[in-house]
Amino acid sequence: MSILDKHVVFERNATLLLVGSLLVVTIGGIVEIAPLFYLQNTIEKVEGMRPYSPLELEGRNIYIREGCYVCHSQMIRPFRDEVERYGHYSLAAESMYDHPFQWGSKRTGPDLARVGGRYSNEWHVQHLVEPRDVVPESIMPSYSFLKNTELDLSTFNVAGNLKANKAVGVPYTDDMLANAEADFKAQADPNADTAGLLARYPKAKVGDFDGNPKKLTEMDALVAYLQMLGSLVDFSTYNDASGYR
Ligand code: HEC
Repeated sequence: MSILDKHVVFERNATLLLVGSLLVVTIGGIVEIAPLFYLQNTIEKVEGMRPYSPLELEGRNIYIREGCYVCHSQMIRPFRDEVERYGHYSLAAESMYDHPFQWGSKRTGPDLARVGGRYSNEWHVQHLVEPRDVVPESIMPSYSFLKNTELDLSTFNVAGNLKANKAVGVPYTDDMLANAEADFKAQADPNADTAGLLARYPKAKVGDFDGNPKKLTEMDALVAYLQMLGSLVDFSTYNDASGYR
């Protein structure tokens, strides 16, 4: 009796076929899922990654609130045309502190994963106030109101923002939580002492982002966020284990 003849048993009995199929699918599932429980981390560790500073995190909230993701992705795929246009392809670690992630799949505008440092603060402000002033053919909407919307710390809780992210796994320390409000203000204040901020959030861009040092606005937060995007990992020293270029 060959193995094929034995298989007739399953083919002639629907219940046995169902039980047999479930058994096979279960084994397949366990083989795929079980190792994940024993891995410390599924994301390769990359030097330079850190949680968002409080001001960047608020900028990110505004980015989500305004639906920027509807037209912009934050995911450079490992294809030559993308790498030549936008820079090194995105690493998994670069969005490890994103809750929710902003990869996206719709590109009405360019990918923004590495827009940090590409333009000046003034360019971003002018572009967000009236995109057609700097890119005449642009179809991006104007967000000029962000410049007039002050961030009033009596109406929202900066540390609470960090705590919510900590609850889903972002490693904010007690020191970061205790200094959340001070760091929030210091990052957009050109005269502030930023030593503590930079120790907690290395490479954070500091200064007056929106061109109005007297006001702390949503524009400050959004530009602070845009200016750090993709700038944390130093790709001149990054050892690309995949060997892909
Ligand atoms: C309706 C679609 C749309 C929305 C919504 C949108 N954008 Fe854009 N964006 C574009 C287009 C198209 C361009 C390319 C033309 C230009 O530079 O204005 C662009 C360009 C940009 C650039 C320049 C990128 C580069 O590499 O040159 C930045 C930065 C940017 N957008 C940020 C934002 C932010 C922040 C928001 C949300 C507040 C936003 N966009 C919302 C369509 C959009």
